[in-house]
Amino acid sequence: MSNLSANVSIEFPTAAPATPYAERRPLPVLDIKHVSKVFTVGHQTVQALRDVNLTIQKGEFICLIGASGCGKSTLLRIMAGFEKASSGIVNMYGMPIAGPDPQRGMVFQDYGLFPWLTVKENIGFGQRQRNLPKARLEEISAYYTDMVGLTRFADYYPGQLSGGMKQRVSIARVLANECEVLLMDEPFGALDALTREKLQQDLLEIWERTKVTVVFVTHAVEEAVMLSDRVVVMTAGPGRIEEDITIELSRPRDITAIEFNEVRRNMTRHLSSHVSSKVAA
Ligand SMILES: Nc1ncnc2c1ncn2[C@@H]1O[C@H](COP(=O)(O)OP(=O)(O)O)[C@@H](O)[C@H]1O
Ligand SMILES: [Mg+2]
Repeated sequence: MSNLSANVSIEFPTAAPATPYAERRPLPVLDIKHVSKVFTVGHQTVQALRDVNLTIQKGEFICLIGASGCGKSTLLRIMAGFEKASSGIVNMYGMPIAGPDPQRGMVFQDYGLFPWLTVKENIGFGQRQRNLPKARLEEISAYYTDMVGLTRFADYYPGQLSGGMKQRVSIARVLANECEVLLMDEPFGALDALTREKLQQDLLEIWERTKVTVVFVTHAVEEAVMLSDRVVVMTAGPGRIEEDITIELSRPRDITAIEFNEVRRNMTRHLSSHVSSKVAA
């Protein structure tokens, strides 16, 4: 039997090796570096994006805002891996994005549901491809169906649902794929105002609960101020990032509050001065 007497000296490592602060911070979930995109159609080329740089930390809620044609969807599709950048790179946790991956789920304005599958089958679709045991699959589907408040409609088909309900299914479907980044392209653009407000609130609740990172494209200032930690302003010709504005309002945000209106008013004024100075130039 060993005898650990007082004169046995054990050497503990002293201080950790000196690492510069920046290197010890966790890697950003998405890091977009010098991304440009040129489309060629026949003999013509369109520069959709020029030298876009954007760093997104895990759990952030980012809104991309800008006029039609400034490259918002193109940038989102590059983040998803559906489209390749002409130059530059997008890293996810330091690894270059090589193609689509369920870790980055896309939600479109037109839902993209399978009409022949029920709500719970649509939600479990991605997991079904992984050949999970039936009981586990049902558990996952039920969990996310409940998260978006559709348990009562689990056996309905998309054709039997309202637009807001369809969008809930499409959000639940990407979350059920264990997605880390929710990429949303004007997801509430086709909904009436009341449904949109309700879905915004529900999305915020889901975001707070799941800690998913959200990149949300919109052209509505109010929506951007309601939802985001940062509003990234894009401009066209060619598409690029003009500004990155942090929204300091505390949560939950109240659309009727004086502070909310002030931020919204300033942002609207700011965006329209961008547009008019471009027109004047
Ligand atoms: N697949 C494509 N082929 C050719 N041009 C495209 C393609 N996708 C987008 N573009 C062009 O790139 C620019 C940006 O488009 P897009 O990203 O859809 O803008 P936004 O989503 O901000 O409205 C536009 O000029 C558009 O016509
Ligand atoms: Mg678009």
